[in-house]
Parts: sequence; structure tokens; C-alpha cells
Amino acid sequence: MAKNTATLTDNETGESIELNILHPTQGPKAIDVSQLYKKTGLLTYDPGFMSTASCWSDITYLDGDQGLLEYRGYSIDQLAEKGSFMETCYLLLNGELPNKEELDSFINLVTYHTMLHEQMKRFYSGFRRDAHPMATMVGVVGALSAFYHEYMDIADEKDRYDAAILLIAKMPTIAAWSYRYANGTPFVYPNNNLSYAENFLHMMFSLPSEKYIASPIMVRALEVILITHADHEQNASTSTVRLAGSSEANPFAAIAAGIASLWGPAHGGANEAAVKMLIEISKSKEDVDYFIEKAKDKTNNFRLMGFGHRVYKSYDPRAKIIRDLCHQIIDGGLAKEEHKELLDIAMTLEKVALEDEYFVKRKLYPNVDFYSGIIFLSMGIPLNMFTVMFAMARTIGWISHWHEMMGDNKTRISRPRQLYTGKSHRDYVPLAKR
Ligand code: CMC
Repeated sequence: MAKNTATLTDNETGESIELNILHPTQGPKAIDVSQLYKKTGLLTYDPGFMSTASCWSDITYLDGDQGLLEYRGYSIDQLAEKGSFMETCYLLLNGELPNKEELDSFINLVTYHTMLHEQMKRFYSGFRRDAHPMATMVGVVGALSAFYHEYMDIADEKDRYDAAILLIAKMPTIAAWSYRYANGTPFVYPNNNLSYAENFLHMMFSLPSEKYIASPIMVRALEVILITHADHEQNASTSTVRLAGSSEANPFAAIAAGIASLWGPAHGGANEAAVKMLIEISKSKEDVDYFIEKAKDKTNNFRLMGFGHRVYKSYDPRAKIIRDLCHQIIDGGLAKEEHKELLDIAMTLEKVALEDEYFVKRKLYPNVDFYSGIIFLSMGIPLNMFTVMFAMARTIGWISHWHEMMGDNKTRISRPRQLYTGKSHRDYVPLAKR
């Protein structure tokens, strides 16, 4: 078969160059511009990476038009319905679903690394009690690099795998402790007899004076939330982890950078923002239509939070799964009246928006963050912990991408260029003459 190429012609000089077209196993083809600058002195310009594939990856595939999401070829619907979070972690990191023996040994490995170094506790007390838990997460996860740096060789695959296990194992403890510190209750140590999700709820809600017994419906709901948030190809935070890691930085520091990127309301912070918006609507004298009009008004920076996506131009498959989960929690009698009211408002917003020309034309649908907050509220998780929950789940995605990138001999330090628009060639003016 003839090599598939695209021709780029400079109309000014008449010079042409053939560029290879790359064929992934699924998804859009890409023009290989990696040698463009070397051969022509031209750069490509793509703010926000609207048309840029930054790497080859075997991990996650998503088709935004069809609303399809697959981890290593397995659909998110099947994983969320039949799988466990530990299986999903193994799958993302290793490429295949584990057999029974592999899964048991993986769970064992994770379970026996959930403790934090006692010295880590001191990092928490350095923060104000009212610090946002995402700020605490960035600090404490970054601080892990101080505990695992000197004797970790990132060129060694085994060391890289160990770093991944440590992160998956310790993230729930770090997350739960950021909550315990904020509300002034004692840090609760992990319990090795519990599953990953149940252990997190135990560390969040147990007290020395009172054991917390998690409802099996809530434990399963948390598993599903963890599975649906586990990876999402080259989103902002994953790309941040890859970019930070490309300089061969410590992986714990690179993950801390990913957490910082996730925090913003355009990304993972949207789950907190979406519920704040629903609460605002429930307290307001205005109806849903008023907020829909406000979201459409270009003179106002209000957006329908939990709506819209860079890649999904149809219903986010994760939002469907999580919306159904909300109903299961309500049907199971586990939600308070005020949470049911928020779900009603969310469903009305969705209905009105999906029939409104503005949202239809722009293909704006509910995303993963639209309904997840209602589940978190029903679990007793406070608003400012929502994005921490996302970070805990996404850690496996981040570290799998880092692991893949570090093992890829095509990896170079990520170093975009710019189109300079500033002043040029000026002589220094002494202070007295300015
Ligand atoms: N409400 C109202 N209008 C919107 C919304 C929204 N939620 N989202 C996009 N639009 C409009 C936007 O104003 C623009 O209109 P126009 O073409 O007239 O200028 C058009 O739709 C395209 O939007 P964009 O901002 O250019 O698209 P983007 O791909 O750069 O941004 C997004 C994607 C997710 C940041 C954006 O849809 C948004 O801000 N949504 C709300 C925040 C949110 O829910 N974020 C979570 C994303 S999914 C989970 C995750 O990544 O963590």
C-alpha cells in the first residue's frame, strides 16, 4: 500500500513538503508534523491542543461522537456493571484483565502499602484547617517524593511499577486524612480487612469511639465512581502528568502536578461547581429556565457546570452510568430529601438543555461531573472533597500514562514553542533615564 501522506504547500515560496499520515488502530488519523520545523523552519499553532495528538497510547480510547469509552478495549459500561476497581487498576496498568491469582496478588500488594510514613502526618498540621483539601492533596502527594526519591530509579521498570502501586495504595489514606484534618477528627489508619472502597469510607467516617459500617450499596456506588473516573486519555491533568514526567521528574511530584491541573472548574473541579450550582438553583426564587438563559448569555460568565466536553459531542457514557447510580441510591432509601431535590433539578436542567437550540447546536451534553456530586453528598462527603474523590480515582490513569510514557523510547522532553508577539531588540535604559 502506498504511504499515506498529506502535502503542505507554502503559497508564498511555492515550496511543498510531504507529511506522513499516521494511522491509529481506532480514532482520527493524524498528520505527523514532528519533523516539520527541522525541514521547513515552520511551527504548527494549536492553542488548547484542539487538533493535536500528543502521543501514541494503548490505554484508553474514546469516541466523542458515539459517546464511547473503552479502557484497553473494554467498554466502560461493562467494567462499571461487572468489574471491580482493583481489576480496572490492574487492567489500566498492565494491559490485560487479571486472572484470579494475579488479582489476589495485586490486591494484596495494594492493601499492604496503604499506610503512610508517620512523618507524613506532620505535613497536614502545616496547613490551615480551612485549607481546600485539593490544596492539601497537592502538597501532601508532592511531599511523597521526599520519601521515595533517592533509591528509586525511574529508568528501571520494576521501580516504576512499585511507584504506581504506592500511589494507588496511599491515595485513599492521603485523601481521607485531608478531610479528617479539616474537620478536626483523628486520623484513622487503613484496615487491611476491607476492600479499597470500603477502606476509604472507613478512614473517612470511622471514629475511635464508633465504628462506621458502610452500606453495601454505597460501597458499590463508590466502586463504580472509581471505575468511571479511572482514566480518560490525554485530558488536561493526564497531559500535565506526562509533561511534568517527560523531564524525568519524580513520579510523585508529577502526580501532584496532575492534581493541581484537575482542580480547576473546567476539569475535575466541575463536580464541586455543579452541585454548588444545583444548590444555588434550589435556593433561588428563579426557575430552571432562568439559569438556562443565563448559561446562554455571552455577556455573563455563568456556564452550566457539568455540561459540555472537549471530546464528547454526544452523551458522556459516564454521566449515564452515574445518573442511574443516583436513582439506585434514591430507590435504596439512602439519599436525604434535599439530595433528591437536587437530582430533580439536575434532571430538569438536562431535559430543558437538551431541547434548547443553543445546547443542541453546540452538542453540549451532561458530562461525568453533572451527577456524581449528588452521590457524594448522599455518602456524606462534603462539597470541597468532591474533586479529591476524582483525584483518588484518576491516580491510576495518571500513573498508567506515566508508566507507559517512561517505557516508550519515542519519549522526549515535552517542549512546545510559541509565536512571539513582544518587543524586539531594545537597548537597556539606565534606571535614572526611565
Ligand atoms: N454552558 C454554556 N455554554 C457552554 C458550556 C456550558 N457548560 N460549555 C461550552 N459552552 C459553549 C461555549 O460558550 C462555546 O460557545 P460559542 O461557540 O458560542 O463560543 C461552545 O459551547 C464551545 O465551548 P468551548 O468552551 O469552546 O469548548 P471547550 O472544548 O474549550 O471546553 C469545557 C470544554 C468542558 C471546558 C466546557 O464545555 C465547559 O466549560 N463546561 C463546564 C465545565 C465542566 O463541566 N467541566 C467538566 C468537563 S468533563 C470532566 C473533566 O474533564 O474533568
